[in-house]
Amino acid sequence: MDRLSTEVAGVRFRNPFLLASGIWGETGAALARAHRDGAGGVVTKSIGSATREGYPNPTVEQLGSWGLLNAMGLPNPGMEHYAAEIALARKEGATVVGSIFGGDAKEFATLARAMEQTGVVALELNLSCPHAKGYGSEIGRDPAIVTEVVRAVKQAVRLPVWAKLTPNTHDIGALAEAAEQAGADAISAINTVRGLAIDPETMRPVLAHGFGGLSGPAIKPIGLACVWQIYDRVKVPIVGIGGISTPEDAFEYLIAGASAVEVGTALSAGGDALFGTLSAGLERLLEHHGFSTLAEAVGASHRVR
Ligand code: SIN
Repeated sequence: MDRLSTEVAGVRFRNPFLLASGIWGETGAALARAHRDGAGGVVTKSIGSATREGYPNPTVEQLGSWGLLNAMGLPNPGMEHYAAEIALARKEGATVVGSIFGGDAKEFATLARAMEQTGVVALELNLSCPHAKGYGSEIGRDPAIVTEVVRAVKQAVRLPVWAKLTPNTHDIGALAEAAEQAGADAISAINTVRGLAIDPETMRPVLAHGFGGLSGPAIKPIGLACVWQIYDRVKVPIVGIGGISTPEDAFEYLIAGASAVEVGTALSAGGDALFGTLSAGLERLLEHHGFSTLAEAVGASHRVR
């Protein structure tokens, strides 16, 4: 399946379907399984400086065909303990991207140095979790802080740096420009969209934390619009995320400007076979449209405008 191989900022993936951060990526066994199931690469759960339990349950709510609302609260074992999980996934042959979150540029840089030691192929900076106090979009919606964080991480490591941006802003293009100017090698877009579910019986928010992040089919048009806008504003490659569950969804992201995509929520319904189904279907779509490489398809929609 050579036609499906893709490059993001100097790193080659066997196909463009990467396991998204947050769904299965908390253990090395889960990352390895996604690799065995055909993922082109795997992105870890976002890892912080210390062990963090996350919010109390309920943390996830299925919203029918729209997708999932989640507020896990960035649970993770902490960088020191997580290195062993990455080692396990790498031993099985997985191409691992390390996701990290921090509260400021200094914390991101320290984590980036530690994550680099684990042998990951790139870093994804979580500047976009929509509900964690002091982290994610609370800092990542400010272009000046995006600049500070990306610059500090670029000075700390040699690995390619992907900035994962929030759609919960009026101008994601400005965030992408700030990241690129600070040296980001790629942009991941998007993280979940801030949302709320209320139980009409108890009249209380369904998730223990209240607000959560919406993922799944409902956010695909939002993700596509963000990728389109970012492609118009920066030169670095884009990793598209949001509501991808079919080969057609992925193809739309590629022609909007993404060089790879991350798949998360759809795995809860599609199970083990999903990566294989996506790759086979995308191969057929590329052939149907006369693209002999995936790179030829990237941004194609902009050129037929
Ligand atoms: C979570 O752990 O609550 C989700 C992380 C994220 O949205 O980035």
